[in-house]
Amino acid sequence: MGIAVLCSGGDSAGMNPAIRKFVDKCISVGEEPFFIYDGLEGMIDKSIKKASHKDVAGIIYKGGTVIRSSRSKRFFDYKYRKIAFENLKEFDITKLVVLGGDGSFRALRQFYDDFKIKFVGIPATIDNDIFATEYCLGVDTALNTIRTALDNIRDTASSFKRAFVVEVMGKECGYLALISALTSGAEVCVIPEIGYNLNNLGIRLKREVKEGRNYAVAIVAEGTDATNEIKTWLQNDVGMDTRITILGHIQRGGNPTVYDRLMGFEFMEYGLKNLLTGKIDNGVVTYKNGKFGMETIEYVTSQKYKIKDDLLKLAGKMTGVYI
Ligand code: F6P
Repeated sequence: MGIAVLCSGGDSAGMNPAIRKFVDKCISVGEEPFFIYDGLEGMIDKSIKKASHKDVAGIIYKGGTVIRSSRSKRFFDYKYRKIAFENLKEFDITKLVVLGGDGSFRALRQFYDDFKIKFVGIPATIDNDIFATEYCLGVDTALNTIRTALDNIRDTASSFKRAFVVEVMGKECGYLALISALTSGAEVCVIPEIGYNLNNLGIRLKREVKEGRNYAVAIVAEGTDATNEIKTWLQNDVGMDTRITILGHIQRGGNPTVYDRLMGFEFMEYGLKNLLTGKIDNGVVTYKNGKFGMETIEYVTSQKYKIKDDLLKLAGKMTGVYI
């Protein structure tokens, strides 16, 4: 009987190291590993192939995912899930490992309810927005990519006495924006979790400009939709020549950092151990307080991820909102 791995939703660095671990581990314990290419879409379209060591040689350092990913609408429809199930049956695949976000886990849970295909989910998204786990694969790499971009932007901003509004990804979650703002010493940080007070920020920034500040960097989480508003405010109210940089998909690519490689191995090792020994039929690997654990899909999808209060409090000066 076979076991397959697939990626679903936005790709993230660390997926390839996890895929490498998947193949190595399965072969070492006598399981037959398969790849499902193109995520849930590939399961429907039968893009399934037996995997060997050769397929994963030299992929550890690569960003993205060598088995590709997709966001599948068809999988919501029972008709297509049935086709996917028939495809798995043809290859005698009875277990799945999915690297993705909570939407993908929910889809796999529905698939389990339909056809009893066992699975384990591994959190992999740069957004770090999955409840019950403190870490998702790809976050460290994305943060380092953003750090490099911010360092570069600061160079040009300070050379021109300019303000920059830098929009970062994260969907509804401000984690990437907050950590990037804190660790790059940004002047302004706008995230959905706290909001912002332009009055307080304006008083501070104008005073600093008077005292000699000649550039400013504002980090805005995409989920706030506030990029243009902050630009207009910096330009018209604070009085600084202002540019917008939207980092976009650059944040998703890049070679996985050492941390993401290691976490990719560890997440996969832990997930496989639980799935292959029959400890769980379906669940998600989580990482909390330095330990891996398993949680049910119901629990993982029951609440919105919350950034720790201690971290949010650190943002006070940059948001103009003190909590
Ligand atoms: O979930 C990861 C993510 O990169 C989000 O930060 C972003 O909002 C979204 O995916 C972009 O999706 P797409 O790659 O489909 O444009």
